[in-house]
Amino acid sequence: MSERTLVLIKPDAVRRGLVGEITGRLERKGLAIEALVLRTMDAELADQHYAEHVDKAFYPPLKEFMTSGPLVAAVFSGDQAIDVVRALVGKTDGRAAAAGTIRGDFSLSNRENLVHASDSPDSAKREIALWFPELSV
Ligand code: CMP
Repeated sequence: MSERTLVLIKPDAVRRGLVGEITGRLERKGLAIEALVLRTMDAELADQHYAEHVDKAFYPPLKEFMTSGPLVAAVFSGDQAIDVVRALVGKTDGRAAAAGTIRGDFSLSNRENLVHASDSPDSAKREIALWFPELSV
């Protein structure tokens, strides 16, 4: 079944010039770009996007990082896109992520891990509405 998922190509990926590499991997898999924008997350959007993490110890440095510069927000679509994108992205901690995944190939961190991808249909719906309200029906 075709699904939509939200992908954030994080500020570390933009700074390192990995936007093309990451979008290319997702496109070559067969996923389609439905929307894409370069945007800097502000504190309010960070708190909304990461609502489930705001009370965690790792959140203040995560917020600092995610608001530190422009990121690319995109909606990708395709068959089982939510799980397919998460498989391509790999485990949260780049040091533990398998080679061949985006994080496994390019990240050595569990914070600066290059990509965020929605983890469930409910998260995808919520996150797409937050970043791309014009796509929500
Ligand atoms: P993301 O998929 O954007 O969702 C939550 C983010 O929090 C995660 O990627 C990491 O960037 C970050 N994160 C999760 N766990 C930790 C941790 N233990 N320490 C630091 N950052 C973390």
